[in-house]
Amino acid sequence: MAGNIQTILAIDTSCDETSVAITMGRRIIAQRIYSQIVVHRAWGGVVPSLAKRAHEERIGTVIDACVKAYAHTIPHARGAYSRDSTIQNHVDAIAVTYGPGLAIALEVGIAHAKQIALQFHKPLIAVNHMEGHIYSCFAQNRNGNPPESFTFPYLAMLISGGHTQWVLVSGHGKYSIIGSTVDDAAGEALDKAAKLLGLGYPGGPVIETLAAQVQNKDRYAFPRPMIHTDSVDCSFSGLKTSFYYFLQKMTQQEKNDALPYLASGFQEAVIDTLIAKTKKALDQTTCSRLLVAGGVSANKRLRSVIRKVMRERQGTVLFPSFPSLSGDNAAMIGVAGYYQGNAGNIVSHIDQLERLPRLDFDRHR
Ligand code: KG4
Ligand code: ZN
Repeated sequence: MAGNIQTILAIDTSCDETSVAITMGRRIIAQRIYSQIVVHRAWGGVVPSLAKRAHEERIGTVIDACVKAYAHTIPHARGAYSRDSTIQNHVDAIAVTYGPGLAIALEVGIAHAKQIALQFHKPLIAVNHMEGHIYSCFAQNRNGNPPESFTFPYLAMLISGGHTQWVLVSGHGKYSIIGSTVDDAAGEALDKAAKLLGLGYPGGPVIETLAAQVQNKDRYAFPRPMIHTDSVDCSFSGLKTSFYYFLQKMTQQEKNDALPYLASGFQEAVIDTLIAKTKKALDQTTCSRLLVAGGVSANKRLRSVIRKVMRERQGTVLFPSFPSLSGDNAAMIGVAGYYQGNAGNIVSHIDQLERLPRLDFDRHR
C-alpha cells in the first residue's frame, strides 16, 4: 500500500473500556486495555457518567503504559525512555474512535487524541468504531501472524452490546449495510436476559458458561421473531418479552433449578436468529467469506455453529485474530486507521473533530 503512515497511536473510549494501542500496519506492537466492568457491575449495566469519569481518571496512565511498552521494543530507545520523545520520533499518526458510542465517553478519547496530535504535529485519523471491529479480524501480532491477506468481498456480522448488523465489505473503507436489528442488539438481549435471571453484568459470558453446563440444550424453544422473513433484519425484543413472562410464571425455586436450561434456551434463540439471518445475507450477497466481530463473537457455542455452517457452504469464516480483540480495544482502531490514513482520510481541522455517538456506515449523525 502506498502511503507513509506506519506507526499509529490509537485510542478507544467509546464505551466501558479505556484502551490505547500502538500498531504498525496490521501489527499490534503494544496495547493496554483498562476495563471498567467493576465500576458498572453494581448498576447492572454501563452508566455513562461513571464511564466518563473512569476514562478521565485512567486515560493518562493507560497512554503512558502503552507508549512505554512500545518504547521497550525500539532498539536504542530503552535506556533513556521518555514518553514525549517516543511519540515525537517513533509515531507517525494518531487514530481515535469518534463514534458510535457514548457521547461523553467518546469525548475523553477524542480530547486526548487531539491534544497529542497538536502537541507533536501528527496527523489525526478519525475511525468508526464498527469499522474497527471489522479490522479486528485482520490484526496481527508483532511477528505478522496470522498472515491471512485480504480477499474482498466479505460479509461482516457485527455483534456487540450496542450493535447487530450485517455489512458487505467490498474493499477497504467500502461498506454497505445488508441488515440490522430493528430493536435490541444481540449482546444487549443477552445482558437483559442475564439481568432477569439475576446473573449480573455483562450477561453474555455468564449465559455462555451456564448453557455449556447443559450442553446447550434447547428445552423451551423460546420465540425467534422475524426468523422466517426474507429481510436480513432481525429482532430480539419479542424474545425478551416472552422470556420475561415465562419467568413470571415460575417460582424462585423453579428458576434456580432450571437456571442453566433457561440460559441455554435464551442463548439458542439468539444464536438461531443470528445464523438464520447470516445465511440470508450470504445468499443475498453471494458472498462466501464471513467475518464475525464484536463482543458476542467471543461466544464459543456461536463460533462452533458458525464454523459448521460455513464448512457446509464451503465458505470461510474469520473471527477477531486474538481473544482479547472480540471486545472493545484500540488495536482494531489502529489497524482500521492505517488503511483510512493511507487512503488520505486525515482530519483536516483537528480542533473541529466532534464525537458522533450515532455514527453508522450509512449515517453520519
Ligand atoms: O463489543 P463489546 O465489547 O462492546 C460494545 O461495543 O458493545 O460488546 C459487549 C457485549 C456485551 O453485551 C456482552 O454481554 C457481550 O458482548 N459478550 C458476550 C460474550 N462476551 C461478551 N456475549 C456472548 N458470549 C460471550 N462470551
Ligand atoms: Zn464495540
